[in-house]
Amino acid sequence: MKIIVLNGSPKGEDSITLQYVAYIRKHFPQHDFRIVHVSQRIKKIERDLEAFQEIIDEVRSADGVLWSFGLWVLCVPAQYMRFIELISERGVEEAFENKYAAVMTTSIHFYDHTAHNYMRAVCEDLGMKYVDAISLDIIDMMKEERRQEMTVFADGFFKAIQEQPATSKLFKPLTFSHFAYQPTRPETRTDAKGKKILVLTDEYDSDTNLGKMIARFKQSFVDEIEVIDLNDIDIRGACLGCMRCGYDYTCVYKDGFKTSTINA
Ligand SMILES: Cc1cc2nc3c(=O)[nH]c(=O)nc-3n(C[C@H](O)[C@H](O)[C@H](O)COP(=O)(O)O)c2cc1C
Repeated sequence: MKIIVLNGSPKGEDSITLQYVAYIRKHFPQHDFRIVHVSQRIKKIERDLEAFQEIIDEVRSADGVLWSFGLWVLCVPAQYMRFIELISERGVEEAFENKYAAVMTTSIHFYDHTAHNYMRAVCEDLGMKYVDAISLDIIDMMKEERRQEMTVFADGFFKAIQEQPATSKLFKPLTFSHFAYQPTRPETRTDAKGKKILVLTDEYDSDTNLGKMIARFKQSFVDEIEVIDLNDIDIRGACLGCMRCGYDYTCVYKDGFKTSTINA
């Protein structure tokens, strides 16, 4: 069987999760594993339609899709999310439809459930047949019991692909709402009593529902509320996991996004 592994770690080959995939690969040499570093290559995938299409063609010809990634900030790495957005933006959902899918993560088990729910919802929105997920700790490779769990998980996934069972859905499908928000003026205004309130948004256009909601929110306070639109900030890219900031709180990206200097 051909299994496409969509590696979500921005670290590419150095991904910890990928070492667990390598373990599975070793135990199931009868299957053909194709690994694609989607997060590490996201800039190219965004720019180069051919590179994107190559990945989609690999998915189309695969028997199963393994979503493999480390937990990043309570969910999947931002580059992975961007790849998932591109699937819908470029209208290639059909390549994923009816494919059996499984999710494999490593983490320190802080909010695994948000990432797992997100990925399951993505699989369901894409019309995939979601089989299972496994959440591993970064040191689980050292534990015999967890290694066994990994092989049971993988075996279950491969059997599902072979036997083609029906799978259940957990989430309601996404439907577009044409709702247009018509704000009223607030009857009373809240005094924040000297507290600073900041609205962080990625859309501050006064014609949009979100823009109108922000305006209405601002009007609800006596105080001036600061709004920062992320589009106005020079952010070169998502976290690469290089851990450069671990030394002195400075980032490898030299852009407008300042790393915290708390305790520096
Ligand atoms: C920027 C960053 C954010 C992280 N966020 C989380 C998190 O929210 N929850 C968690 O349990 N682990 C978190 N971790 C730990 C990683 O999930 C863990 O190191 C994982 O093994 C990385 O997998 P990878 O090497 O395949 O990318 C984070 C690590 C980094 C570098």
